Amino acid sequence: TRPFTVLGIESSCDDTGAAVVRSDGVILGEALASQGDIHEQWGGVVPGLARDAHEDAIDRIVDLAVERAGFSSIQEIDAIGVTIGPGLEICLRVGATKARELAQTFQKPFVGVHHLEAHILMARLPLEEASPSTATTNNFVFPATDLVHETVRTMQFPFLALLVSGGHCQIMKCLDIGKYSIIGGTLDDSLGEAYDKVARLLGLPVGGGGGPAVEALAKQGDPTAVPLPIPLRNRKDCDFSFAGLKTAVRRAAEKICDTEMDGNLEDLLTDQDKANIAASFQNVAIKHIEQRLERAMKMVEQEEQEQGGSKIRSLAVVGGVAANQELRARLETLCERCSSSQDNDDDEEDRWKMFVPPPRLCTDQGSMSAWAAIERIMVGSTDDPTSRDVYARYP
Ligand code: KG4
Ligand code: ZN
Repeated sequence: TRPFTVLGIESSCDDTGAAVVRSDGVILGEALASQGDIHEQWGGVVPGLARDAHEDAIDRIVDLAVERAGFSSIQEIDAIGVTIGPGLEICLRVGATKARELAQTFQKPFVGVHHLEAHILMARLPLEEASPSTATTNNFVFPATDLVHETVRTMQFPFLALLVSGGHCQIMKCLDIGKYSIIGGTLDDSLGEAYDKVARLLGLPVGGGGGPAVEALAKQGDPTAVPLPIPLRNRKDCDFSFAGLKTAVRRAAEKICDTEMDGNLEDLLTDQDKANIAASFQNVAIKHIEQRLERAMKMVEQEEQEQGGSKIRSLAVVGGVAANQELRARLETLCERCSSSQDNDDDEEDRWKMFVPPPRLCTDQGSMSAWAAIERIMVGSTDDPTSRDVYARYP
């Protein structure tokens, strides 16, 4: 069958994204308007301002993506997908309304995309940009022209996924499109939120997410300088918690400044103190992720020994925080470690393999909506464009 093209739109939070993606995984054109500057002064996303910014940007971003893809009209595109939840309701509505209008005007098949499924499915997107020589951490990276080979296509179901974003922190068993079972979630904050809160504490830029600034600063610091507790280390499940760690970071910062005053810690800390705090926080946060994930991986192996069923040895790492280089490197090492503890570690089938989208496709953008729609269309699942529903919460 001939490849088809999908226009994807994303407006669930503070990024207005659009992209045209082809069903063989080639991203033909994309455009993104981020609202970092708008929310910076408020220290977080202000929904009303976000909606206004989406409304200002949506037409231009869609036109730009279509134009960059080399199309002169949406008529030439085969289908339309858009995030319909979870997210900020008034923001979701901007993208959803635009996409539904386009689908009806141009009489195109329509898919309402689940944002978390879209993050996860990005780990299955075959990419054209990287050459096989760069495929060290990314088994699916190869020229898209090789796509005809089913064996190298992408990560296959079933697989395990770690979803770490601003809104979520979960471990899931991914069985098929639309079929996921959650085996661990967060008891309080997400990992992205923890990064954002530490960024705020250290006076780093938080508009559009504080994670990249914390990651950059951590590179200058000593990850063992500030002692912090690893959350839930004795709990025998796969859940996460970051609220205690965030408080411990604040306490540690106050101790360094010898003050218990609220507020302006950022002025009292030296640059080296801040770097050490950032590095120590990141180190412990990732240790927590490693511990929970290792438990999940062992659980999956055990279940399979007891109950049989198809083997899971693929780990997808997705969501905004998956852009973090330290997290990527450490989880790659975790996969190696878990593989070598196997009895028959020569057996390729028993080795854990990590699949992670390139950093710019980990955070929110239009390609994720387009690719998720493609995956849904390929299993024959589309939606009614005349519905007006969006879902702030979307199980
Ligand atoms: O997936 P995403 O773009 O939006 C949601 O669906 O939530 O994730 C945004 C989150 C923010 O908390 C941001 O600080 C974090 O991802 N993030 C990072 C990095 N890049 C983005 N956290 C740590 N290191 C990064 N490099
Ligand atoms: Zn997201």
